[in-house]
Amino acid sequence: MRKIKKVVIPVAGFGTRFLPATKSTPKEMLPIIDKPIIHYIVEEAVKAGIETVIFITGRHKRAIEDYFDYYPELENQLLKNRKEDLVEMIRGISNMAEFVYVRQKEQLGLGHAVLTAKHVVGDEPFVVMLGDELIINQDKPAIGQLIETYYKFGKSIVGTTSVPKEDVSKYGIVGGKEIMESIRLVTSMIEKPKVEEAPSSSAIIGRYVLTPSIFQELENTPIGKGGELQLTDAMVNLLRKEAIYSKDIEGIRHDTGNKLGYLKAILDFALLQSDIRDDLKEMLFEKCEKFKEMDEKHF
Ligand code: UTP
Repeated sequence: MRKIKKVVIPVAGFGTRFLPATKSTPKEMLPIIDKPIIHYIVEEAVKAGIETVIFITGRHKRAIEDYFDYYPELENQLLKNRKEDLVEMIRGISNMAEFVYVRQKEQLGLGHAVLTAKHVVGDEPFVVMLGDELIINQDKPAIGQLIETYYKFGKSIVGTTSVPKEDVSKYGIVGGKEIMESIRLVTSMIEKPKVEEAPSSSAIIGRYVLTPSIFQELENTPIGKGGELQLTDAMVNLLRKEAIYSKDIEGIRHDTGNKLGYLKAILDFALLQSDIRDDLKEMLFEKCEKFKEMDEKHF
């Protein structure tokens, strides 16, 4: 079976939920304390053995290219100040993988963004990771769990998690038969269904292993919900020709594409950092006490 070496990370979206910040800063570059979100995504891919990172970019995404490039002027300045450790740290970012950038000329949806990578991916299986889903698992990176499942079955694998019933309309939902613990043979898929249409509450969460046959399906899939070419619709067509499996991902998931999810991710990451954890805990306790007092006065 061919080794999976390439990841496609679509980052060309407008990030409208974070306007006005995303008018000039890509949403993937918003920081979780001192590292941008996209850093964690690339780190997860590299930990799982990925060697080539293909970003699908658009206008206003130069900051991502600069972040993963060398910065000799800054390095020289840091060296003058004897900050070798910082030089090593910023160089390490550029050396994590080989980076390739492909422009998506029009923002026609996630499926269209993936199709834009066709000529760089070629005829091999690859992974897709969304730039706004952080999944924390220190031992087994989320995408590594899917790659492992791919090596068992040799077919496309979607990463899933169970969501509350009332939330199914925010996700691509898969129905299927459980064949092993946490793995299902997919029998149906639907993008953002109404509650009554959803085949289950198993939601696709921004991690995929795809066989290259997906490109042909993307080329033949009409524009779907929201006037976008939907990756889920192309996978529904692929399902008629090839098996697709779903795997429940183990890990703590943060949807950083919405404001509350982003804030929660920052807090969780901060509580893992030994230099700020204790002060932050104290600050949070104080705030909670204040809220309690305010509530008591109010009622
Ligand atoms: P989202 O649906 O989250 O869209 O796309 P968005 O534009 O980033 O954010 P909102 O909803 O307007 O706030 C999921 C992923 O697919 C990428 C986005 O960059 C994001 O990482 N994407 C989406 C593209 O690369 N191209 C597209 O045409 C659409």
